[in-house]
Amino acid sequence: MRTPAAAVSPFLALSALLLLVATSVAAKGYGGGDAPAGANGYGGRDDASPGPKGNGGYQVPAYQKAVDGLDAGYYRKSCPDMEGIVQKAVRKALRDDYTLAASLIRLFFHDFAVRGTDASVLIDVPHQSERYAYASRTLRGFDLIEEIKKELEAKCHATVSCADILTAAARDAATAVGVPYWSLKYGRKDGKDSIADEADRLVPMGGQSVTDLIRFFESNGLNIKDLVVLSGAHTIGRATCGAVRPGLCKRAGTLERQYGDFLRRKCGAGGDGEYMELDGETPTAFDNQYYKNLMRRRAVLDTDQKMLPDSRTGGYVRAFASQPSQMFVHEFAQSMRRLGEAQVLTGNEGEVRRKCSAVNY
Ligand code: HEM
Repeated sequence: MRTPAAAVSPFLALSALLLLVATSVAAKGYGGGDAPAGANGYGGRDDASPGPKGNGGYQVPAYQKAVDGLDAGYYRKSCPDMEGIVQKAVRKALRDDYTLAASLIRLFFHDFAVRGTDASVLIDVPHQSERYAYASRTLRGFDLIEEIKKELEAKCHATVSCADILTAAARDAATAVGVPYWSLKYGRKDGKDSIADEADRLVPMGGQSVTDLIRFFESNGLNIKDLVVLSGAHTIGRATCGAVRPGLCKRAGTLERQYGDFLRRKCGAGGDGEYMELDGETPTAFDNQYYKNLMRRRAVLDTDQKMLPDSRTGGYVRAFASQPSQMFVHEFAQSMRRLGEAQVLTGNEGEVRRKCSAVNY
């Protein structure tokens, strides 16, 4: 039997390693060889102008901030079985369709990307809300979240927000595919605005530079390590050729030759809607294979591959590729928790929707 000290030591080793990487990133500053900021799409954020919630200029990263208004015991009296209901529904849905795990994790990220975790992505106003953005066209999981909401409304009327349901569902999807459990705080409120154009402007979809991605994460209260760790979600799930094809011809220098040929064959002829695995080696395992693929220059998405040669992100990629998967999944759980706490509405902000697909009247 392993002693507690032996069980903990790999994480201590990783912490030391990641600290070393972080220190070297800090020492090098932001001089990494990348496209100039703003070259690729984050027009609204390049000048550090106020985000949708009005947090102008530089923000203290969320992992340094106390989270006001969120509480692990938020539903203890008002809806004690909230977590059980969400978990049961997610587990059942994944038994029917395992691929939904990746989709729920992605849905959570897309929601966070626009106005923080406020369930704005769930609002259904044809041709207007985020759900109808080009960036949202392959999102899935909406029906499951609505079903869970319906059950929770029946048991605890007007109590549990859709943002909390989505946060818990993403955690349960991740733990179902092998990410270690992390406890959640609740009390998020649902936003009242959802604009398709904002999703298309803000959600990273693959054409960005590393600088763009770092700015996007930092402007939302996360850091460079969170960017590299959370991008590791691409160790499961799939991408459409429509997302892979743009820029494929320009990737000759950054892609391993045979793999490049494979991508061109697969997506060159296929329609935009054809799917390919984001991690062709172990597509259903939540492991560190994604980082190993980057080391071999075999990333499906150009944005992912760019993280290896960049001095700000490359050290993390190499660290996760060379350490056991446990190290990555442990960090993934921590970054997912930060993602769900980074930009939230609490207290009197927002509302608790009665249906996740519509604001209250
Ligand atoms: C950092 C910038 C990111 C970019 C540029 C990006 C881009 C993409 C693209 C283009 C796809 C394929 C979409 C399609 O064609 O259907 C995808 C899929 C996916 N992304 Fe990301 N992503 C990023 C970050 C993240 C983060 C932070 C997470 C989660 C925490 C995430 C989770 C996923 C998952 C799980 C899938 C597969 C979805 C499925 O199989 O249904 N991504 N991403």
